[in-house]
Amino acid sequence: MLFDPGVKTSKRDLFDRERELEEIFDAVRNREKLIVVYGVRRVGKSSLVNTALREIGEPFAIIDVRALYFESGFRGVSESIIVETLLGKLRESGVLYEKFRDILSDLISRIESISMGFIELRVGRRRGYLRLIDVLGLIDDWCRRNGRIFIIALDEAQYLRFSNKRYDLLIAWSIDNLNNILYVLTGSEVGLLHDFLRLDSIDSPLRGRVRREVYVEKFSIEQSVEFLRRGFEERGVEVKASEIEEVVKKLNGVPGWLTLYGYYRVVRGMNNIDALNKVLEEGTAIVISELDKVIERSRDRYTAILKAIAMGFKRWRDIKAFVEARTGPIPPNKFSELLERLVKYGYVKKINGEYTIDDPIVKHAVLSKL
Ligand SMILES: Nc1ncnc2c1ncn2[C@@H]1O[C@H](COP(=O)(O)OP(=O)(O)OP(=O)(O)O)[C@@H](O)[C@H]1O
Ligand SMILES: [Mg+2]
Repeated sequence: MLFDPGVKTSKRDLFDRERELEEIFDAVRNREKLIVVYGVRRVGKSSLVNTALREIGEPFAIIDVRALYFESGFRGVSESIIVETLLGKLRESGVLYEKFRDILSDLISRIESISMGFIELRVGRRRGYLRLIDVLGLIDDWCRRNGRIFIIALDEAQYLRFSNKRYDLLIAWSIDNLNNILYVLTGSEVGLLHDFLRLDSIDSPLRGRVRREVYVEKFSIEQSVEFLRRGFEERGVEVKASEIEEVVKKLNGVPGWLTLYGYYRVVRGMNNIDALNKVLEEGTAIVISELDKVIERSRDRYTAILKAIAMGFKRWRDIKAFVEARTGPIPPNKFSELLERLVKYGYVKKINGEYTIDDPIVKHAVLSKL
């Protein structure tokens, strides 16, 4: 269902994204080993990657790095957790596991026989540490012998930066040495993913590697209208064109919000106004809880910056003047650092030196709840 608020995993439920899918297929056909998918929150990166990898028909594992990071209690994603997750995914993907059985059953049994909380410790002490590099080597070996490739998707890969393991080095090593393993990395905090990969920095291990960059943008006005129209049609719900127009105007092409709106209408049976209000209310709560983590270190200043931009100040010096009027003098470089950080996190968009907030729910949340 187009209005299913979960991550989409099949073409039937994925609206459009033909160009982005084709980009990924093409990169995989060419055996490009690093595909990076950029896009702000709720734009549909996970849905794109989940659908693409299923369509390709080669074995894959999608690892939700953000979830692993939160599950770690913000301590960082350890190598053993990645190894365990990867092995779990291999086992889920039945077909592959059958073929891997000999090699992997031994590895998996080690993992399963120990208690979750102490994996690193117990595996490390008693059974010999299972290194990611070895698991990757085994997978690559199997692929080579069977004429297959294996695709590892690291969803929200920028969360790997909070780890004492240098995953960027590991990925670079894999790309250079393992010919049959491809990586798809996604990130909503576009600037942070870029920083983590340091793709342009001279001493970056990943610099110079062939890579495909796929940008997922929000829906255009036409796409938004068509998405809603088809979603309603699919469920046999009749909706006035004027209502669709209003929604498209208010939700500004953000696929996640459009989907949520559609869900409230067709599944919960709400009318236009109630559904819009519900998206606003629920969306605001989600945005605030996400923003809280980003701004906690300098809450007053971040809040003032966001408010200034939400109110329509676009230029650096105007935003700064507004912030200083509220929170006192602030050195230019400190101010720039805070502002750029909001850009890196994807909350603020910077085009031709002008700063804006693109997501109407973020704007509403900033103005009403911060
Ligand atoms: N092309 C699409 N067709 C149908 N639904 C979509 C599409 N793109 C996104 N959605 C819907 O929008 C919501 C957000 O999508 P998804 O989780 O894939 O985005 P994301 O970019 O990975 O977001 P996040 O940054 O929160 O991880 C989901 O409910 C998904 O079903
Ligand atoms: Mg996602």
